[in-house]
Amino acid sequence: MSRANTRAIVAELQRLLPNAHAPYSGVHVSCAVETTDGRVCYGVNVENAAYPQGLCAEASAISAAVTQGSTRISCVYVASSLPETVWPCGGCRQKIFEFAQDGCEIVAVSPDGELARRTIEQLLPLGFRLEPGAGHRV
Ligand code: THU
Repeated sequence: MSRANTRAIVAELQRLLPNAHAPYSGVHVSCAVETTDGRVCYGVNVENAAYPQGLCAEASAISAAVTQGSTRISCVYVASSLPETVWPCGGCRQKIFEFAQDGCEIVAVSPDGELARRTIEQLLPLGFRLEPGAGHRV
């Protein structure tokens, strides 16, 4: 992804942050998922009064990508309203891993627009994967 596109994605993440539905935690998170077929899909966290039903921004963005038929992720960007840099939670690391190409980068965007990068393998070493259809055999 070019620097110009990265700038555009970061700007869009900041623009979308107020759209997060986070009346309980007050923490707004936005996420962009870049796919190998050239799409960029966005999501925000969507909380619920029944707390466990809340959705992380990463899950929203992955859902948007899969809905479009794009299931190979090359890069994930995350921004939040917190003063510190935010990395995907454990559950979202696994959700990303499901669709990540090898070496998929996670880019954490700080409030002042600084970018920190890690690969999904750094964030989720020895991640769990199944061959499609393999899980139900006994
Ligand atoms: N959150 C995300 O959207 N992504 C993460 O990776 C970490 C946490 C959301 C969930 C909840 O709505 C709020 O941040 C506070 O935990």
